[in-house]
Amino acid sequence: MLLRDILNMPTSSAIDRIRVIDGPNAVDLEREGAQSAPSLPRFTDAPGINSKTALAVKGLGKTYTTQNGTNTVLRDVSFAINAGDSVAIVGANGSGKSTSLRCAMRLIEPTTGEIFLEGRPLMGLSGLALRKARSKVGFVFQKHNLSTRLSVLSNVLHGGFARGCGIRNWTHSIAPKEERDRALDCLDQVGLADLAGRRADQLSGGQSQRVAIARALMQGPSLIFADEPAASLDPKAGEDMMALFSDLCRRTGLTLIVVSHNLEHALAYADRLIGLQAGSVVLDRKSTGLTREDLAWLYEETGA
Ligand SMILES: Nc1ncnc2c1ncn2[C@@H]1O[C@H](COP(=O)(O)OP(=O)(O)OP(=O)(O)O)[C@@H](O)[C@H]1O
Ligand SMILES: [Mg+2]
Repeated sequence: MLLRDILNMPTSSAIDRIRVIDGPNAVDLEREGAQSAPSLPRFTDAPGINSKTALAVKGLGKTYTTQNGTNTVLRDVSFAINAGDSVAIVGANGSGKSTSLRCAMRLIEPTTGEIFLEGRPLMGLSGLALRKARSKVGFVFQKHNLSTRLSVLSNVLHGGFARGCGIRNWTHSIAPKEERDRALDCLDQVGLADLAGRRADQLSGGQSQRVAIARALMQGPSLIFADEPAASLDPKAGEDMMALFSDLCRRTGLTLIVVSHNLEHALAYADRLIGLQAGSVVLDRKSTGLTREDLAWLYEETGA
């Protein structure tokens, strides 16, 4: 399916329920099955799919089969994110934030739904074509998963594997010069070029997380998915991490989708918030003007 087909999707599609409803005309679109309405409008300023869309998911669902039957953890999740935007996914523990991120790149296979990465459908892809599409997305997780016995520079070089680099990218001593230069540039972007030669097990948590970001940049991504990147860091390092992401995105035009339990971070550093509750999108709006108190309802028990 091509971008023009996406633009021509029927207006009854799930994603139309979160289509653009601009500032002065902002209205509260109550969703079927959603909880009693909070005072703030829930679905405002959420873009529909257009030529600037970096990622769109439509009707994403995930049901696990367990020993006790089935467990539906994502229900009809739809959103579209424009290139260059910073979006925070928020919601209580178990609301489906990590599953949404992973399903959006098919690291977990969704049960239903469609995914469009830079206008191209992801669901029909497999093998090399899927890996190539995924290489546009750099992942940063709470656990940075560095190879602790290798140097910082070698760890960053590993990001090149997603671009199809060969085994010489395993360690900086044999990596091609252009790859080493690229890795050094990525380290420079996260302010760690001077630690290139240090072993990764001699870094602080904040420094390790920066190396993980440099490794993601080494892929040459256009989107970064970050799942609670600041969760293991102290308040100052966590704040620095979010500021770094925000600055990187502004400077390079990267699209950022970050899962965060820290509402202050989400409100300060994301242009837009997508809120999940019991596997459904219950909020999709700009962060401007919102406060933590406005979002307290997201963390209330749903009984689901
Ligand atoms: N393999 C699995 N089988 C069955 N249920 C699962 C499986 N993996 C995750 N779940 C369930 O899916 C739901 C959503 O999990 P997910 O990790 O996406 O939540 P989350 O919003 O990221 O939570 P947290 O804030 O704690 O990280 C949870 O109820 C979880 O128990
Ligand atoms: Mg999670």
